[in-house]
Amino acid sequence: MRLDKLLSDRGYGTRKEIKKLLSKQGVQIGDVTIKDPGYQVQPEDVVVFNGEVVSTERFSYYLFHKPAGCVCANEDHVHPTIFSYVPNPKNTLFSVGRLDLDTEGLLLITNDGQLAHALLSPRRHVDKVYFAKLSGAITDDDIKLFAEGVDIGDEKLCMPALLERANDRGDEIRITIKEGRFHQVKRMFEAVGKEVLYLKRESMGPFTLDEQLPAGSYRTLTEEELSYLQGFTNHTKE
Ligand code: URA
Repeated sequence: MRLDKLLSDRGYGTRKEIKKLLSKQGVQIGDVTIKDPGYQVQPEDVVVFNGEVVSTERFSYYLFHKPAGCVCANEDHVHPTIFSYVPNPKNTLFSVGRLDLDTEGLLLITNDGQLAHALLSPRRHVDKVYFAKLSGAITDDDIKLFAEGVDIGDEKLCMPALLERANDRGDEIRITIKEGRFHQVKRMFEAVGKEVLYLKRESMGPFTLDEQLPAGSYRTLTEEELSYLQGFTNHTKE
């Protein structure tokens, strides 16, 4: 990627501003000062600008275990946000979809809009698995109804969802959905007369919460997870 594009993608200014900055101070790559905005940055280059190392990875991806009580937003005057936990120095990150204030669980955080769009599209059938505790036990009829598509008052029925018991009583469940409508899981249970008392997203596509990621912590993706994402979007390497 061109040096000026890298710096503007990372939020250091417009290409024009960066051209000026580069002509004044340049960037350090090893022992060399580079002032040419058209310099082709190599993946192995460690680019230092204004004393900061500039990430040469095109996009950033983090897997975050959202705790209850924080909001999926960049700013909030009442509650902590996901960015009270995940650093977002350039304000370019956002979450792929949202979880409610009281919902816990897996959130992918990125600056890759194309990927977010693809992962959220119901057409791409990315499974999202939630664990929930309910005010009452589910019935076989609920399971059948969810498999057919439950009516939550939207224009269209929900897409078929897999509903499974997670305890003997049937008031703890796992549900797999392919969409991400507003308050979807809570509204699906409301449609069958149950209230969701606790909700946690356990996985989304190949991304799964594990024991090593306690609530409030985040990690970068594994090579395997990154290669899944590469197959998901048609990003060309620059
Ligand atoms: N469904 C909900 O109702 N809430 C969430 O946070 C996620 C899915």
